[in-house]
Amino acid sequence: MTLIPEIKPQQSLELLKELHILTRDGKINQDTRRKLKQVYHLYQFIEPLMEEVMTRKGDCTLADHGAGKSYLGFILYDLFLKEKNTGHVYGIETRPELVSKSQALAQHLGFERMGFLNLTVEQSITSDQLPAQVDIITALHACNTATDDAIRFALAKNASYIVLVPCCQAEVAGVLRQKKNETFGKTSLSEIWRHPLHTREFGSHITNVLRCLLLESRGYQVTVTELVGWEHSMKNELIIAKKVSNGKASARARQEAILEEMNLTDLRDRFIY
Ligand SMILES: C[S@@+](CC[C@H](N)C(=O)[O-])C[C@H]1O[C@@H](n2cnc3c(N)ncnc32)[C@H](O)[C@@H]1O
Repeated sequence: MTLIPEIKPQQSLELLKELHILTRDGKINQDTRRKLKQVYHLYQFIEPLMEEVMTRKGDCTLADHGAGKSYLGFILYDLFLKEKNTGHVYGIETRPELVSKSQALAQHLGFERMGFLNLTVEQSITSDQLPAQVDIITALHACNTATDDAIRFALAKNASYIVLVPCCQAEVAGVLRQKKNETFGKTSLSEIWRHPLHTREFGSHITNVLRCLLLESRGYQVTVTELVGWEHSMKNELIIAKKVSNGKASARARQEAILEEMNLTDLRDRFIY
């Protein structure tokens, strides 16, 4: 039992200290209280998805892309999977020192069904260190196009759920900039992105729109919401996708039309497949 009311009874205090949510002497302060609130906020979206998969299959595999320090994977394991006999969390991360640190922490805490792989998201799609089917994919602020690779991974693994909080994406803005003169005469709506700051923001926005349409075209029902409590980050768009059908041709047609109108057809392979 813990004396701090915000902390769930099943939660490992040792883990919270390692994640700097609790201070070394086990206390919570204003800063760490906010951090804990943020983590729970995200947990409340993902826990029902894990529950649904676990109830349906008796097992649940989750891969977290661009895992960083893997705090999301650790919290999900600690609050949900720890008490169960099945289920696995994989963290995929390119920085080897973060991978080794997470491996050591999981071993120390006895979190046996956690695995950390020093791979790019792209490499993980074909890696034999991951199972052929993965139920839930998360990618939280995975840099630039790593979110797109995470979507590719999710589609290849036939995921039931995909949870994305995209980071900045520079690729679309780059093409908009490059083809500015050509695209500008097409429509007066080009004013939306004429100024450089707007080009960057609009590039990110249209990227997420194309990602959502890609997911819909592949049979996912998509919800876009805000990751509230994440005030420290400019990027707090939360995309949750649930596999519901074989696909939606109208979403693909919309993608084609947008790429054409925006002169973005050079990026067709990224968004349409
Ligand atoms: C902004 S951090 C986010 C970390 C964590 N998801 C979080 O929200 O705290 C992005 C992480 O993604 C990793 N990363 C960037 N590109 C990647 C790629 N292509 N494949 C795997 N990891 C990548 C970086 O090393 C970094 O640790």
